[in-house]
Amino acid sequence: MEIDITALPPIEQYKLLASTVVPRPIALVTTISDEFGDNAAPYSFFNCMGEDPPVMVLGLETKRHNQSLKDTTVNIRDNGQFVIHLIDEPMAQAMNICAIDFPSNISEVEEAGLTLTPSRIVRPKRIVEAPVAFECEKIALLQIGPTRNIAIGKVVRMHVRDGLFDPVTHYINPELYRPIGRMYGKLYARMTDHFEMEVPSYEAWQREKGF
Ligand SMILES: Cc1cc2nc3c(=O)[nH]c(=O)nc-3n(C[C@H](O)[C@H](O)[C@H](O)COP(=O)(O)O)c2cc1C
Repeated sequence: MEIDITALPPIEQYKLLASTVVPRPIALVTTISDEFGDNAAPYSFFNCMGEDPPVMVLGLETKRHNQSLKDTTVNIRDNGQFVIHLIDEPMAQAMNICAIDFPSNISEVEEAGLTLTPSRIVRPKRIVEAPVAFECEKIALLQIGPTRNIAIGKVVRMHVRDGLFDPVTHYINPELYRPIGRMYGKLYARMTDHFEMEVPSYEAWQREKGF
């Protein structure tokens, strides 16, 4: 089946993209508004785009009912700073509450029962319960269509829950760190199953083929 995705209405394009590029990590993003204070919302059009500098990217839609910018977009545009938190299973319900379209003057973090603490470098606070938090400064906010912005941020400080960092391998321990992933709609994925695969050298590949 071949699909001319560009000819489809936006919601159908969204459904195809959201259900094929899976599972997506979830960024619970905190920002600050001079008028309304702290804000938090989840974004799964999200990923890390590289190191040196460490770069994060967020896909920010407009509100579906009136096409206005979401609070996160407004705050990143106006203040240029945000904190990205990864979500594990114990935080899933709280993350979901943060997705409710509360009026701007209501704090999602309070409604969700999460705890804020000052960040080290940026003004938006970070969420204590999150296993991982990245303090970010805006590199660019790109409008790529009438309903889409992409925020690109540089990570200026990272916080990791005690015990997750493996000082021998310098990786985060995958047995202890269990972020959840977004599939689509109300479907999520758990990270409960890993497997190993190593890229062979070209020489090993040739040997295997009997050259
Ligand atoms: C798991 C999850 C992932 C989401 N991902 C996105 C996303 O990538 N882009 C987006 O615009 N909205 C996304 N949303 C919806 C926003 O979280 C929601 O519109 C929220 O109310 C925006 O809040 P804000 O106005 O405070 O930024 C997602 C919601 C959930 C539950």
